[in-house]
Amino acid sequence: MDSIRIRGGRPLHGDVEISGAKNAALPLMIAALLTSEPVTLSRVPKLADIATLTKLLSELGVDIAAPDNGDADHSLILRAGNVTSTVAPYELVRRMRASVLVLGPLLARFGEATVSLPGGCAIGTRPVDIHLAGLERLGAQISLEDGYIHASAPDGLKGAEYHLAAPSVGATENLLMAAVLAEGETVLHNAAREPEITDLIHCLSAMGAVIDGTDSDCLRITGQTKLHGTGHRIMADRIEAGTYAIAAAVTGGAVELLGARAPHLETPIECWRQAGITVEETARGLRVSSAGRIQSVNLTTHPYPGFPTDLQAQTMVLMALAEGSALISETVFENRFMHVPELSRMGADIELHGGNALVRGVKALRGAPVMATDLRASSCLVLAGLAAEGETIISRVYHLDRGYERIEDKLAALGADIARVES
Ligand code: EPZ
Repeated sequence: MDSIRIRGGRPLHGDVEISGAKNAALPLMIAALLTSEPVTLSRVPKLADIATLTKLLSELGVDIAAPDNGDADHSLILRAGNVTSTVAPYELVRRMRASVLVLGPLLARFGEATVSLPGGCAIGTRPVDIHLAGLERLGAQISLEDGYIHASAPDGLKGAEYHLAAPSVGATENLLMAAVLAEGETVLHNAAREPEITDLIHCLSAMGAVIDGTDSDCLRITGQTKLHGTGHRIMADRIEAGTYAIAAAVTGGAVELLGARAPHLETPIECWRQAGITVEETARGLRVSSAGRIQSVNLTTHPYPGFPTDLQAQTMVLMALAEGSALISETVFENRFMHVPELSRMGADIELHGGNALVRGVKALRGAPVMATDLRASSCLVLAGLAAEGETIISRVYHLDRGYERIEDKLAALGADIARVES
């Protein structure tokens, strides 16, 4: 297993290209199952999760190829004109739980799907009850046997009104992709409103879907008999952008995030500005800089447009180096403080009380050998290593590779002393 070695204390300067959003690319690739015509996606990030999903879709019979115009815009052409299987096996689903999103499209287009239950992960049990209850409301028959979800809709899905018990991102995406080919109208209340869902809606609409209520928590879908192919450029990754914003701030540097969109980061930007960080919108994206000491700011994670849980660990590094104390409350997942013991080993002063972390700022962190536990915790350790005095070795960086494209190259280009150490 590879490690990453960082020698900290160097301010980052320059600009960094933000890649396509992982959490938009995954449902968008799966949406290709909804039509027999080609769907071309551009700005596809080169990530382990994308490779895993490519393998899964290929096993279902989807033809996935890069256009022969080179790799200029990181495009993929997906053709689901000859799907040969509707079974998503445990071996692949366990590695990438977003695979459960194939349920909706397979049911909608083929009337059947067998998908392994994704199981939990480091940050929580992450059930799929809202996904399944919603699909049943659309007329699917669902049974759970041997760790698999067996779903069928022999007479097709029927539109219905459904109130999501929680604004689940995945459940909203699954139900959206089921409803677009269901007979009649579907209304989803308490739907999630993340920008990645808006990106999916834009693509589905370009494929011929009829969806009202974009950006709201109430989506109204008029089912169609079929959808056609399209081309779609994936939105920039707001979580990657936020991660590099904090890298600039904790090293006292100045970095321009090319492709980043301020409207996708309004709540985090407000928090960082209160902490004394300068965030400016530019023609190419966002410019983030920090000169003086960081001020402590309390934060609570919420579904969009609240503070994103995927930036909680990274912002904790900022607060660990701030003047004063900050209370960070994690309300979306039940176990998303796995990075805290590792940060403490680097000299951070953090007390955990259930879903709350009291972070008392310290003057400096010290480099140390640490271990990544999940995707965003691993990026938080990279940020801590960039800010710390001395050397940090982060092991199990396969977590990092799931969600950050070439992170060591991008950071080295900004002046960081960072390298991947092959084991
Ligand atoms: C998506 O996960 C993202 N993943 C996560 O990003 C992100 O943290 C999360 O949304 C919240 O924003 C992708 O988009 C691939 P949820 P998802 O369903 O869809 C509970 C990253 O680091 N819940 O909105 O799985 C669930 O347990 C990843 O990129 C149910 O109870 O998140 C959790 O507590 C991590 N029943 C809460 O809702 C359900 O049926 C939010 O989960 C579904 C969810």
